[in-house]
Amino acid sequence: MKIVTSKKELSEELSQIRKVGKSIGFVPTMGALHDGHLSLIEYSNKDNDISIVSIFVNPTQFNDKNDYIKYPRIVEEDVDKLKKVKCDILFTPSEKEMYPDEDKREFDFGNLDKVMEGAHRPGHFRGVALIVSKLFETVKPDKAYFGEKDFQQLAIIKKLTSQLKFNIEIVSCPIVREKDGLAMSSRNMLLSKEQRANVSIISKTLFAAKEKQKSMTVSETKDWVIRTINENSFLKVEYFEIVDMTSLEPITGWNQKAEKVGCVAVHVGTIRLIDNIRFYS
Ligand code: PAJ
Repeated sequence: MKIVTSKKELSEELSQIRKVGKSIGFVPTMGALHDGHLSLIEYSNKDNDISIVSIFVNPTQFNDKNDYIKYPRIVEEDVDKLKKVKCDILFTPSEKEMYPDEDKREFDFGNLDKVMEGAHRPGHFRGVALIVSKLFETVKPDKAYFGEKDFQQLAIIKKLTSQLKFNIEIVSCPIVREKDGLAMSSRNMLLSKEQRANVSIISKTLFAAKEKQKSMTVSETKDWVIRTINENSFLKVEYFEIVDMTSLEPITGWNQKAEKVGCVAVHVGTIRLIDNIRFYS
């Protein structure tokens, strides 16, 4: 595995690869890799000749400075994991490399960045769009892999790709979970033992909500999810919304003709976790 830190060196490497007609798969990450990240690399390996992973804790997408400071950074462990799954190139740029000057671009994603994460984390998706567009410009992959764990992010990246006319196929990959159902996340390693023992309530409640769909209205299901999670004293729901998977507009009745997803954000002390579940359509 080659480790590259400059955009120039990466572009040179990649042009050699392209010259011989090899396809390139790309997995952008912020590191502290877990099996969820590694699953994206496995999908990329299956589809492409070469897989590239980036690790960059992107300052512009953190609306909370403390969250940025405490975000886990364990690059050596990450390198060991990447060597085991077959990653061809690891790109680990510095902040100066990605943001040599202030990037003042603004984006218009319509409703997509106004709701849920967008409403509760102002500026977050602008930061994601800034970095992903910079990475796409540098890597120019054939395909890029993103997890459904960050459902709204995925919708926004699809929109960004078409708006900026990147010739890149965005591949959505399913959520990888721990044995007790907890969606894997780099932030999970920040949980205390006690918190860790309680957070599986989040996914368990979402799985149960899918069954409630048969006997409850949308609004009853929403209330039930929020109430059930909040009954646990470690957990505080920030939002739970059931939305149209494409437009992210709220669903008001189960008979609506749309694919439906329920998205939740939960505070566990100072840590914030997100998860989601598909409802029957
Ligand atoms: P990060 O949180 O490191 O996630 C990198 C990728 O891994 C994202 O596409 C995310 O959805 C996916 N992922 C995380 N947990 C997952 C799980 N349990 N199952 C499946 N996929 C999972 O998302 C980001 O970084 C950043 O916002 C980034 C896109 C890199 C831009 O900075």
